[in-house]
Amino acid sequence: MPNTINDETIINFLDHQENLPCLRFITCGSVDDGKSTLIGRLLYDSKTLFDDQIIGLKRESKKKSNNEEIDFSLLVDGLEAEREQGITIDVAYRFFATDKRRFIVADTPGHLSYTRNMATGASTADIAIILVDARKGLLPQTHRHSFIVSLMGIKRVILAVNKMDLVDFDEAQFLNISTAYQVLADRLGLEVQAIPLSAKCGDNVFDRSDHMNYYQGPTLMQVLETIEISNQNSVGPARFSVQWVNRPHQDFRGFSGTLEQGMLSVGDEIINSRTGFSSKISQIITPRGPDINARPHEAVTLTLDDEIDISRGDVLSPPTDRPKLSDQIQAHLIWMHQEELIAGRQYIMLLGTQSIICTITDIRHRIDVTTFEKLAAKTLELNDIGVVNLACLVPIQFDPYKDNQSLGGFLLLDRLTNKTLGAGMIDFGLRRADNIHIQALHVTKVSRSAAKNQRPRMIWLTGLSGSGKSTIANELERKLHSLGFHTSLLDGDNLRHGLNKDLGFTEADRVENIRRVAEVGRLMTEAGLIVIASFISPYRSDRAMARSLFDKGEFLEIHIATPLEVAISRDPKGLYAKAIKGQIKNFTGIDSPYEEPSNPDLRIDTTLHSPAEAVDLILKLL
Ligand code: ADX
Repeated sequence: MPNTINDETIINFLDHQENLPCLRFITCGSVDDGKSTLIGRLLYDSKTLFDDQIIGLKRESKKKSNNEEIDFSLLVDGLEAEREQGITIDVAYRFFATDKRRFIVADTPGHLSYTRNMATGASTADIAIILVDARKGLLPQTHRHSFIVSLMGIKRVILAVNKMDLVDFDEAQFLNISTAYQVLADRLGLEVQAIPLSAKCGDNVFDRSDHMNYYQGPTLMQVLETIEISNQNSVGPARFSVQWVNRPHQDFRGFSGTLEQGMLSVGDEIINSRTGFSSKISQIITPRGPDINARPHEAVTLTLDDEIDISRGDVLSPPTDRPKLSDQIQAHLIWMHQEELIAGRQYIMLLGTQSIICTITDIRHRIDVTTFEKLAAKTLELNDIGVVNLACLVPIQFDPYKDNQSLGGFLLLDRLTNKTLGAGMIDFGLRRADNIHIQALHVTKVSRSAAKNQRPRMIWLTGLSGSGKSTIANELERKLHSLGFHTSLLDGDNLRHGLNKDLGFTEADRVENIRRVAEVGRLMTEAGLIVIASFISPYRSDRAMARSLFDKGEFLEIHIATPLEVAISRDPKGLYAKAIKGQIKNFTGIDSPYEEPSNPDLRIDTTLHSPAEAVDLILKLL
């Protein structure tokens, strides 16, 4: 028989209470602070458990401590154990209800990925319970939890000073802790209700304690049952994120999506802030059928009076209160992956239904989440929180996170694997993007290349040091030049003496190296040239970034494939010998990776082909 709660049964159990208002909260603290006991106590005292669960709980408690006292922590620790057995549940949601309200508790495991998990749990919560052990007072983790909670937009917290039974319900101890916490809460702009309690004995959880008459405030349950449920997203201007354009036949064109915030009604004027075109809503189709209103969070289909350009990712809003539009923003970023953040690398930003390529252009600082100090940083690692500037390939439609979580919160994904790397909260758009506009030029790439009578190209040679890139690049340019083509050659070693002489060989420096080379190469193709670039360019994502700057078919990735042993035996500059002795750090192939192209336009094995043959192969490709 299980001694844990099965979430699904609870959902079913709670189904009939669906009409009760629902409060979502998060509990922050570790098992040591009594978090499991508190959640267990709430489930037990709210009579949310089934008889068999209670019998199981009693039996397990007895097994553990050999007395009749119930150990509430067993209720949730069982789930914790399940979690450790494999299925990775980062955040478990537990459900219970009283006759006044339903509750959803986000329970996040306290260990390892605390920042990521807490941020996930807190992002949907109305309120947070910050647990403190009355014997220990405020700990660094109390600061950390409070900071993350405030960062995620929670404005109200309950400071649960737990284990009061272990300090003889001492008033002075409670006052010391709550006064100290008030200072912290003021700094973070949090509204706080401090409650002395004992989750284990039940004091001030559901029932008022007889041991602490000095405290006349509400019990934990009274706060949870009466605190105003923030309905953040129902206020504020309407934001309709378009998910898809629904066009089943010629006579119907609807826009399906979610009303992230606010209300919309038939007849309302809306605007697409990406294009500036507006129209009026003619129909709202909800899952219940046609309606005159769409409510917050509802997934509906809209039809409009006019045919205006709208596509997936667009945000429809009232013309008088539009979301911001910018391609450069400042945001708080929580890094969630073992792989560190690399400024300059391209990531995918998911914001509402928008999916945009972006790069982090500047890490302004990292935040020490226990002291709130701003620290200089070149990167962000797992669980780090920082403030960054981002540049997007196209302008995004957003609201600052503090005004609207759904259009201000975003995820960053890896471009190739789609793994989630970070979560961000937009602070504001950067004005400099507002004031810099693309200038239309009269002489174009087409006219320049026509004058040269050639098609511009970027021929990108990638491969290990010593693979033969430079030799082949040189030969290739000589050949093209003799045939009358206008060319240019960008070579790694050479550029590192000029434009890139400030860069070394760390991952971040190589990313920046390739970014600059790709931009310079693009300018050269704009001038109508055939450009040859010869760079190790060891990372797939950076080569993909380089490709993305060029027109379709213009960029040719050529892998000069030479096995590492062969490159080492050639060692034309004696660098491998030094790297192997440890005299050069971060040497590609030795202590720094080379990611082979998985799908190059051409792969040349230099153990099979001479440089002259390699040139012929490339010319054939051209
Ligand atoms: S890349 O990785 O950023 O693309 P790039 O092609 O510009 O490298 O420069 C590579 C050249 O720098 C090599 O051919 C080699 O001569 C020299 N070099 C010096 N140190 C290193 C190193 N640690 N790793 C690789 N190449 C190095």
